Amino acid sequence: MNHEKNILITGASGLLGRSLTARLSGIGNVSGTGFSGATGRLFSVDLRETEALKGLLRRVKPDVVVHCAAYRDPDFCEDHPEEAFRLNVAPVQQFCELLPETAPLLFISSDYVFEGVAAPYREEDERHPVSEYGRLKVVAEDLVLQHGAGLVLRIPLLIGAGPTWKKSGFIFKTLTQIQDPSPSSLDDAGIRFPTWTNDVAEAVAHLLDIEDRGIYHYSSLKGGTRYEWAAELADLTGLSMGHITPNREGSATRAVRPRDTQLAVEKIRHTGLNQFTPFWEVVRSVLKSTTDHGLTS
Ligand SMILES: NC(=O)c1ccc[n+]([C@@H]2O[C@H](COP(=O)([O-])OP(=O)(O)OC[C@H]3O[C@@H](n4cnc5c(N)ncnc54)[C@H](OP(=O)(O)O)[C@@H]3O)[C@@H](O)[C@H]2O)c1
Repeated sequence: MNHEKNILITGASGLLGRSLTARLSGIGNVSGTGFSGATGRLFSVDLRETEALKGLLRRVKPDVVVHCAAYRDPDFCEDHPEEAFRLNVAPVQQFCELLPETAPLLFISSDYVFEGVAAPYREEDERHPVSEYGRLKVVAEDLVLQHGAGLVLRIPLLIGAGPTWKKSGFIFKTLTQIQDPSPSSLDDAGIRFPTWTNDVAEAVAHLLDIEDRGIYHYSSLKGGTRYEWAAELADLTGLSMGHITPNREGSATRAVRPRDTQLAVEKIRHTGLNQFTPFWEVVRSVLKSTTDHGLTS
């Protein structure tokens, strides 16, 4: 291809989309979309609206689409399955219909397609979601895999610096809980693999470069419960966890969370990717960048 690739990133205003935009800008001409939080150069597009999505494709004419816009809260998807379908599946169907078969469509999926009882999971293992969020990811994956140049990247719990400190996900929520002196508890049953958005962005750049198709997993390498990760966070920041108790029953949530969905990463490793940043290094980087950018709310 002689011209610079036009890369369309949906959900570019989100936690992962921000890292993707920064990384992929180095390899092509990036157009990003957001919705309620679209600022600056991002297109504000409601992807639930077919005409809006069609207009976006006419305008950007992407050679590559990295699709990560979605409702990412499993409880919301459990309570609003039809609305969740409108964003988490329908636009995928549109992309598959409207994009040339040769245009890579990279779909961000989740470890929640698995039941969580037989980890680690490899790419070819049977999917058995236990929540609506996971079921919708399965439907969307199947659509993408029927597309000639479809690529599915499954990832676990993300950590990274969001557009605001409050939108910085797990690290923000956990630090806020540690700093609140009232007694509370944290899940000490489910195993999580907090994974840096910048590492996922590196994996996406790598997959687009090797031009392979099909399913890939990417995950950080060390697992722990939310309680254990909070203890590591407290250690790193010099805070006390004395008022927080481990909840070994697991937290009661509207959507069932699978217990351990560790994603095996051998397949992507064998293609030459070897960036797996440890938790402590991610925390330092996120705290530094939120301080540098004055993100306090
Ligand atoms: N976060 C995790 O722990 C995690 C784990 C596994 C997989 N994933 C997957 O990774 C992907 C990215 O997640 P994330 O954490 O970056 O999510 P996020 O921070 O919540 O971002 C979601 C993005 O979707 C956009 N969006 C929301 N409603 C929209 C609409 N109607 N039309 C168009 N865009 C809309 C948002 O735009 P505005 O904010 O501008 O409205 C935002 O850019 C998702 O597919 C998610 O399922 C996430």
